[in-house]
Amino acid sequence: MKISIIGAGSVRFALQIVGDIAQTEELSNEDTRVFLMDINERRLNASYILANKYAHELGSPIRIVKTKDLDEAVEGADFIINTAYPYDPRYHEDGFQRWEIVTEIGEKHGYYRGIDAQEFNMVSTYTYVLASYPDVKLALDIARRMERLAPKAYLMQTANPVFEITQAVKRLAEANIVGFCHGVAGVYEVFRELGLNPEEVDWQVAGVNHGIWLNRFLYKGENAYKLLDEWIEKRSHEWRSKSPWDVQLSPAAIDMYKFYGMLPIGDTVRNGSWKYHYNLETKKKWYGEFGGIDNEIERPKLHEALRKTREKLLKLAEEVLVNPRLNLTEEWPEFFRKGQLSGEQHVPFINAIANGKKVRLFLNVENMGAVKGFPDDLIMELPVIVDKDGIHREKVEPDLTERIKKFFLWPRVLRMEWYLEAFVSGDRRVLEEILIRDPRTRSYEQVCAVLDEILSLPFNEELRRYFEKR
Ligand code: NAI
Ligand code: MN
Repeated sequence: MKISIIGAGSVRFALQIVGDIAQTEELSNEDTRVFLMDINERRLNASYILANKYAHELGSPIRIVKTKDLDEAVEGADFIINTAYPYDPRYHEDGFQRWEIVTEIGEKHGYYRGIDAQEFNMVSTYTYVLASYPDVKLALDIARRMERLAPKAYLMQTANPVFEITQAVKRLAEANIVGFCHGVAGVYEVFRELGLNPEEVDWQVAGVNHGIWLNRFLYKGENAYKLLDEWIEKRSHEWRSKSPWDVQLSPAAIDMYKFYGMLPIGDTVRNGSWKYHYNLETKKKWYGEFGGIDNEIERPKLHEALRKTREKLLKLAEEVLVNPRLNLTEEWPEFFRKGQLSGEQHVPFINAIANGKKVRLFLNVENMGAVKGFPDDLIMELPVIVDKDGIHREKVEPDLTERIKKFFLWPRVLRMEWYLEAFVSGDRRVLEEILIRDPRTRSYEQVCAVLDEILSLPFNEELRRYFEKR
């Protein structure tokens, strides 16, 4: 068994995944090899040291290998988890810096939160036209190497934008790609707030990544939307956001529920129309006192916090070398969990495919009739059962509402298509046409000015040449 993690210096993923593997009985043995791959030597080494130590503390004999060579990570792998956030090391130290610069230029030209921040596409970092070009390119590169070196492997796409990347790889390469997101866990927040025992809820969510809806919601066999309606009537006025991420039952979520007829789940709430996003004041009205995570105050704080966590891990790795008796699971139990899985879907997926340990997950896979009225080959986020025979879609029932389809999903699908058109054609006019349709655009000159400035950034040289070629 070979599991490879691309972008293994990631603060959020690699160590969590190693912890999950080490605590999964069927996978925690000498035959399991985990390849950590990253281009950043310092982060890779730290992940490697910490992963070994963590697995050891968990009493797991899995073998951990580190490499900077993508081919070595891909070759003969069974599962390849892509969590990389690409950047050009000549200019930056991580992908966030690239995003920050592009966002700032966008704002200067009248595009609040950056030019890729259009409605239905995450008014945040999950950018899609210009800033995510390297992310799509990297995923395609991995997929094409897989065609040669690991044709049967699963590419478990975790880096954003998951919707665009999974669709691009399906169309442009042969690899077996599946998209992963933990946003669906937002349902548990709803159950908790309504005081429902999760075991007794019959639920489904479906849609596209960051655009998913609670289409089925039964409690002890009865329609549980009645309980939500009661909560809205009697208790929603008491709701306070506990953190910038805590928006699952925010006024925006309730407003979307009232318009669309089903509750948006997880990141979908961040991904409503401009109604909730015009400026910070508007965001605060709809998302609570922090205004959500996608704004000029909270987003820099998040990047700062992620960098601090990364620094802490780098230091911890050095300390482990000096003091082998240091105990990670005691030192930092919220990060290095013991006796508890991370909640990410990756390792349950691997264990289901490899060892037949059947599990219900929510994955980004081709629709194949699960949601009525959408193409079979459209990648949608769907409830599925995974076992040793593969991925089995549940029928999405009841169907998503017409408004969800016409006002949210179809427009979002179109944006994905525009993105792929830009990516495949390299035609700058496609970028222009996308921006002309943006509600913030006032003139064609504005469009040209912002594109010129972003494309002339030194680290965007390849992008500039790409969009100049036609
Ligand atoms: P990060 O910057 O902390 O980690 C990414 C790692 O990728 C870095 O160590 C970097 O050196 C490495 N990397 C960059 N270029 C590479 C290349 N060409 N080959 C191999 N490794 C490379 O970023 P973070 O916060 O972990 O985010 C990673 C991605 O995951 C982002 O796209 C983010 O949007 C996404 N994400 C997805 C979630 C989901 O549920 N699907 C949740 C949170 C983040
Ligand atoms: Mn996500």
